[in-house]
Amino acid sequence: MKIAVLPGDGIGPEIVAQAAKLMEALRRDGLKAEIEYAHIGGAGYDTAGDPLPEATLRLAKESEAVLLGAVGGYQYDTLARPLRPEQGLLRIRKGLGLFANLRPAMVYPELVNASSLKQELVSGLDIMILRELTGDIYFGQPRGIRTLDNGERQGFDTMHYSESEIRRVAHVGFRIAMKRAGKNSQGRLCSVDKANVLDTSMFWREIVTEVGKEYPAVALSHMYVDNAAMQLVRAPKQFDVILTGNIFGDILSDEASMLTGSIGMLPSASLDENNKGLYEPCHGSAPDIAGRDMANPLATILSVAMMMRYTFGREDIAQRIEAAVRKVLQQGLRTADIHEPGMQKVGTAAMGDAVVAAI
Ligand code: IPM
Ligand code: MG
Repeated sequence: MKIAVLPGDGIGPEIVAQAAKLMEALRRDGLKAEIEYAHIGGAGYDTAGDPLPEATLRLAKESEAVLLGAVGGYQYDTLARPLRPEQGLLRIRKGLGLFANLRPAMVYPELVNASSLKQELVSGLDIMILRELTGDIYFGQPRGIRTLDNGERQGFDTMHYSESEIRRVAHVGFRIAMKRAGKNSQGRLCSVDKANVLDTSMFWREIVTEVGKEYPAVALSHMYVDNAAMQLVRAPKQFDVILTGNIFGDILSDEASMLTGSIGMLPSASLDENNKGLYEPCHGSAPDIAGRDMANPLATILSVAMMMRYTFGREDIAQRIEAAVRKVLQQGLRTADIHEPGMQKVGTAAMGDAVVAAI
């Protein structure tokens, strides 16, 4: 396995260090993995003047999988947009063609009290959000700030989705729904759009419906994004797989992550056509707690599990990692973000050590 590791900024290096410990342990156990490090985000800007240095993109392209910590920090907030850490993230997604972003939102039984919703609404919750990641208003041209004929200034962006972009991500969605279908339950895919207002969404709905005909075993439904935002907090367990575009997926995945009460627990995968992937925690760089041994490394560790599952097809290792995480939770270990009375509060490194011990 050839893996690139990009720690990034803020808590990135600390949480990635815990995942690295775990990969080291797996290597001692016989896993053949080659790991190389590079800079991204603010760290890329600081060392090479670019949030995505050429050497980093090259390494990522040569690797089969990328593990990323997080990007961003207050000191970069005043930089021009092309130099900002977030651009490193957007460019590596685009540069590697990572169009399928998988963001699971699941509630661990041990953490059911962490949610701000009533326990009965969220216990057992297990949603997969599939967000298209390389199109939409994020990348549409033209965009900018222009001066109109009447002298007024105007900001503008362009939303568009081509048929091939919708088709390929829809196929991924239906396949995920089929895989998740249990013995007695049908896979369900809910496509989220704004087809009552946007032409882009009308087209999205048309193509998803068409692709759906190839997957009669999956129950396809459509929902407007405003309603989906509401349904996610009203009755989140009605969802199985949610398929949506880049901007709606950005917003809904943050919302869904908080249903679990613990964004520090949620991993993500961004995949290309051939299951090459970039894996990162759903949370950001949390500069306010950076360097204080407080951050929760479990989302990053669980991102390694997703890497084993989706890029390397090693379901066995993925499950070992996930079981180890469950075990430390059962032992009562909690970082500050998921701590509750009666549990043992631990720091980032101790949590990482505990997972390594458990595995
Ligand atoms: C995310 C983040 C990024 C996005 C930002 C940091 C560019 O919010 O991964 O959800 O908008 O995609
Ligand atoms: Mg986001």
